[in-house]
Amino acid sequence: MTENFDLFSAEPPAQSAAAAPEKVIAKVQELRARLQRWAHEYYVQDAPTVPDGEYDRVFQQLQALEGAYPQLVTPDSPTQRVIGAVLEGLAPVRHAVPMLSIQTETDNEATGAIAFDQRVRRELGLGEADPVVEYVAEPKFDGLAMNLRYENGQLVQATTRGDGEVGEDVTHNIRTIRQIPLSLPAASSVPPVVEVRGEVHMAKADLQKLNERQLAAGGKTFANPRNAAAGSVRQLDSGIAAQRPLSFFAYGLGEITPAAQGGPDFVTHYAMLQMLKSWGFPVAPQVCIAQGAPELVAFHERLGAARESLPFEIDGVVYKVNSLALQRQLGFKSREPRWAVAHKYPAQEMPTLMESIDVQVGRTGKLTPVARLAPVQVGGVVVTNATLSNLFDIRKKGVRVGDTVIVRRAGDVIPEVVGRVAGERPVYVPNFRMPKTCPICGSAVVREKGEANHRCTGGLFCGAQRKEAILHFAHRRAMDIEGLGDKLVDQLVDAQVVRVLPDLYRLGLSSLAALDRMAEKSAQNVLAALEKSKSTTLQRFLFGLGIRHVGESTAKDLAKHFGKLDAIMDASVEELLQVNDVGPVVADSIHTFFAQPHNREVVEQLRACGVHWEEGEPAEKAPQILAGLTVVLTGTLPTLSRDAAKDMLEAAGAKVSGSVSKKTSYVVAGAEAGSKLAKAEELGVTVLDEAGMLVLLKGQGTA
Ligand code: IVH
Repeated sequence: MTENFDLFSAEPPAQSAAAAPEKVIAKVQELRARLQRWAHEYYVQDAPTVPDGEYDRVFQQLQALEGAYPQLVTPDSPTQRVIGAVLEGLAPVRHAVPMLSIQTETDNEATGAIAFDQRVRRELGLGEADPVVEYVAEPKFDGLAMNLRYENGQLVQATTRGDGEVGEDVTHNIRTIRQIPLSLPAASSVPPVVEVRGEVHMAKADLQKLNERQLAAGGKTFANPRNAAAGSVRQLDSGIAAQRPLSFFAYGLGEITPAAQGGPDFVTHYAMLQMLKSWGFPVAPQVCIAQGAPELVAFHERLGAARESLPFEIDGVVYKVNSLALQRQLGFKSREPRWAVAHKYPAQEMPTLMESIDVQVGRTGKLTPVARLAPVQVGGVVVTNATLSNLFDIRKKGVRVGDTVIVRRAGDVIPEVVGRVAGERPVYVPNFRMPKTCPICGSAVVREKGEANHRCTGGLFCGAQRKEAILHFAHRRAMDIEGLGDKLVDQLVDAQVVRVLPDLYRLGLSSLAALDRMAEKSAQNVLAALEKSKSTTLQRFLFGLGIRHVGESTAKDLAKHFGKLDAIMDASVEELLQVNDVGPVVADSIHTFFAQPHNREVVEQLRACGVHWEEGEPAEKAPQILAGLTVVLTGTLPTLSRDAAKDMLEAAGAKVSGSVSKKTSYVVAGAEAGSKLAKAEELGVTVLDEAGMLVLLKGQGTA
């Protein structure tokens, strides 16, 4: 055995039977410590300090050394996470301390917190004059409860909750979860026996990625993180669990060596969580101390508002009395602690029957499939319709009429069909197809190349688009025609009184008052609002026309740039491209719109009806001091974004190109500029930094 062999060579000598040299033992320990620290920084703190490649390199070094000296392999080595053992079945394990559940209440308001606090105070015999009770408020994670047993600092067993008394041994799978330490630090606080309890779950983004992978591989998808976690943790083959991106949050303890026998001494739940954190367990950053009911209410509201944007799924909040002495005093009622309560938020996802799929036509002619559902309570309201964005969405989700589907409603967004509940289809139902003709006007339906959406080609001829077009025109931020809402537009279009936008200004008192439920006074108000709307701004008018891709801000940019409507109507695509933030798609859409004679006719008629606005002069064009020059941008500039720099250069007449050639006039390089900078240097092209570019733009450069 050579004492000084190269520890970093890819293949250490195969001498497994021999005793490992001191140096190797020390090296192995040092590599493990490094890998454990990096993994903790990466998986628990979300703050990696080394590149992945570096981790892999050190991991392989450790693997190589352990390969050469198998006697040095320990169960807590980072190389031992994925063991790939396949079990016959999951073994039952009786919990040393039962895994209880918490009293769970569903509430919409925050009143639950007040009721819980009152209950606790009453049980503790506290009067009004007594101080507030201190609580810990936690998210209620949507996952699977897990008991992690550590003996002498080593993870020896992981069990599911099961029925609370007896769970299943899932150690082989839990060992693959990077956020769960295989061994605890050699800290004085770590007792001979400790069971850490918490929730195995799957982050939203990880679940989405997993489902995409499952779909691509023809496997089944998971409706929520809870199913995904359960489906992964209860696998017999740990190789499968290892590929499932599981996470963990600690929230409690099971058996622990008592303080009298050398166990750690802590007096609050919060202090216990801090201790778990110091041992390397993830504790949710949202967990906080709350004084009395008002702070619980505030937590409930805060977390409810943040729920959508949290990286992991929660289904409510959990409140726990912080003092362990008070917890003992409160004790248990049947199988639930009196010192804790869970308040569930209304479910955001519910299964229901999809009865049919209808097709709706939007203002821009987009055909949207809409699922008609058996009524179901989701997120606190009854849902009967949900969107299925387009044909591809339906295909991707694999849903068919008659399926039980999962409906999701989050915040104010339109409910959507997430997927179908696995199971046999009782009868064969063909796949959904888009209609070939518009269900409203019968015009042909097309799907443009590269687009996911189908569209009706009827334009203003299509009733659906007409109604939407009128509503958009009347919108508060467009022509602002007060009183011209959904119902009235429906009536006007259905009665064929209004076919095109200018018809609005041809309405008379008699035709309006003739409509159902239209009093003369209301009719007069509508006429007055129409009259008032005639005097507008170019920006509002342009926005109101409902040109595809022309929102408020583009309308504003167009008005500012051209000053006059005629200039916009006659602008070429190239001229339109000069406008701030107008790219090829938008320019093309505007150009196509005004190329249609019927659209120009609408504009003319509106003007003839008296619609007017003040016209201005076109925005002054910057002096084209860089005309004829080609500039390439590369790397990150210190203050300007790539787009801002490009705009400035183009406004001064330069052409901004993506690749460096002999024809390039300048390369503007920022931090981390790569091959383009090298190419410029090779070709002898002048390289400027941001400051140099600004000098050039001022006309003081070397051009
Ligand atoms: S504490 C005695 N804290 O909810 C209290 N549970 O019915 C034991 N859960 O099975 C549980 N988030 O899976 C606790 N912050 C949290 C939790 C939480 C989710 C789950 C857990 C348990 C169920 C309680």
